[in-house]
Amino acid sequence: MTSYHIDFEPVGRRGKCPADKCLLDCAHQLGVGILSMCGGHGTCHSCKVQVLSGTVSEPTPHEQEALSPQELKNGWRLACQTYPTSDCKLSVPPQSMTTPQRIQVEGLEVTVAPDPPVRAYQLQLPVSSLSDPRADSERLLETLEQQHQVHCSIIDIDVLRNLSPQLRSWNWQAQASVRDNEVVALSPWSSHKLGLAIDLGTTKIAGYLVDLENGQTFAAKGIMNPQVSYGEDIISRITSATKSPVEAAQIQQLTVTAINQLGVDLCGEVNAKPEEIVEAVVVGNTAMHHLLLRLPVEQLGLSPYVPAIREALDIKARDIGLHIASGAYVHLLPIVAGFVGADHVAMLLATEAWQAEGLTVAIDIGTNTEVSLVSDGKVTSVSCASGPAFEGGHIKCGMRAASGAIERLLLVDDQVEYQTVDGTPPVGLCGSGILDAMAQLYLAGVIDKDGRMKDNHPRMRTRQKQLEFVLVSKDEQDGHPAIVITQQDIRELQLAKAAIRTGIQVLLETNGCSEEEIKQVIIAGAFGSYINVSSAVTIGMLPSLALDCFRQVGNAAGMGAKLALVSRSKRAEAQTVARQVGYIELATAPNFMQTFVQATHIGRYNRGG
Ligand code: FES
Repeated sequence: MTSYHIDFEPVGRRGKCPADKCLLDCAHQLGVGILSMCGGHGTCHSCKVQVLSGTVSEPTPHEQEALSPQELKNGWRLACQTYPTSDCKLSVPPQSMTTPQRIQVEGLEVTVAPDPPVRAYQLQLPVSSLSDPRADSERLLETLEQQHQVHCSIIDIDVLRNLSPQLRSWNWQAQASVRDNEVVALSPWSSHKLGLAIDLGTTKIAGYLVDLENGQTFAAKGIMNPQVSYGEDIISRITSATKSPVEAAQIQQLTVTAINQLGVDLCGEVNAKPEEIVEAVVVGNTAMHHLLLRLPVEQLGLSPYVPAIREALDIKARDIGLHIASGAYVHLLPIVAGFVGADHVAMLLATEAWQAEGLTVAIDIGTNTEVSLVSDGKVTSVSCASGPAFEGGHIKCGMRAASGAIERLLLVDDQVEYQTVDGTPPVGLCGSGILDAMAQLYLAGVIDKDGRMKDNHPRMRTRQKQLEFVLVSKDEQDGHPAIVITQQDIRELQLAKAAIRTGIQVLLETNGCSEEEIKQVIIAGAFGSYINVSSAVTIGMLPSLALDCFRQVGNAAGMGAKLALVSRSKRAEAQTVARQVGYIELATAPNFMQTFVQATHIGRYNRGG
């Protein structure tokens, strides 16, 4: 098989790739994180690269539709559609990279009295001798009982394998970590007692290293979920994982490797070792949960979208390849349904929304958005396929919240005032900027309530037979391509915001409530934390309420994972929450289509049309 030398710049990754691999697959092979929100089908346009030198295959119809003749002439191509026909040098622009991106790890801090499932005990064991020839395991268990009144009958097999040499090399002093009836780790006296909480999102992974004794967070860090290279949304991942067991194993391995590296990085911040982590908690949506555990996911993508399991799980970390203490467990919070996962349960736990007094909406916005309505102690949830538009996907100049992304935007007469992530020159629009742009164009009368653009503003122009609004012109940014919002972008945004609003409306109507009765709206998740709520209200994505009714709580799922890590009672509470939540399959709700169509209109939601 012919192979070519492919050079990805500015990341500087290069190597030999077979000629029958598209540039996106070459990037995967060389570990270059190029976005592929549609999973390589040529429809999301997120994988744009520029061919700087060398030759490649002819543009496909998808590329001819996505790229202007000028862009094609300048070497711009979709990596998933293009094959090398010689050695090539490519440039990957920031908006096509999966990293770096601002990743939300912070969220509201909820304190709870630590009551961890694992406790550590320092032991001084009697030295073995002819007069005391007990087995080392008996010596350990009996010392635990005598010195700490802790009764244990099981020693993890990996702990047992190392027990005899370790006791001797540590001069019969050891710290035993005990979970229920089992010794799960043995370490020197001075070891940390660490826990790891992971919020495993479709796009991002947030990790927290926690002191199990006092519940304090030692370090927190967010990274991209490397599964993004298999597609942006859950359905793309499910499709990839069901192609073959090998592909499913690769997807799982990618995630575990990333979590292991996250553990190493977090431990590095406090001079600890991953072996000192004696318990982990993972929360994630149902697909992420199943993929991590290598559970079947095919049925998650097919009606009636049934999970393999809903109950909370405790499994050995080593069984999924996590490199923490040898006998440690990973606890996975319970799931509500195929599309309402443990992350939503964790969010309800952390915000305490599930026991809120007044009518409350709790919403976690992502490529899949979960919404819960709490009314008189009853919790009802739906899942909305909001898609990747608010992550910048399917939007002509959309990008993630990385450097140079416009995150705030205001239209003042003919001028556009904006703020970018890191204050660097603008290269595209991230979700919060996209939302602002839509609201500002609506308020300025550039788009009407049906989302139709009007050619009534000096910044409007026509390109490739469609209207677009120039937010930043080529002249305004030193000859770099203009940043625009197109008519097609507005259509994508209408669908995304309608999905979310339909979820809220269906919950209200099912519970016989009206928008005016809502006392608070809790907005969780990275996107939800950065949005300008008034823009979301203006376009009708969120209910028309006073702004002080909204609480933006950051990564509440991560906070819920931390609570479950340090508190057994919070784990039990999570079980209660998951059992209590009633799930509605949105598409089966009465008036679903009518509500959805109504919700696509921009402006205040009007039930009557
Ligand atoms: S267009 Fe290439 S991955 Fe979507």
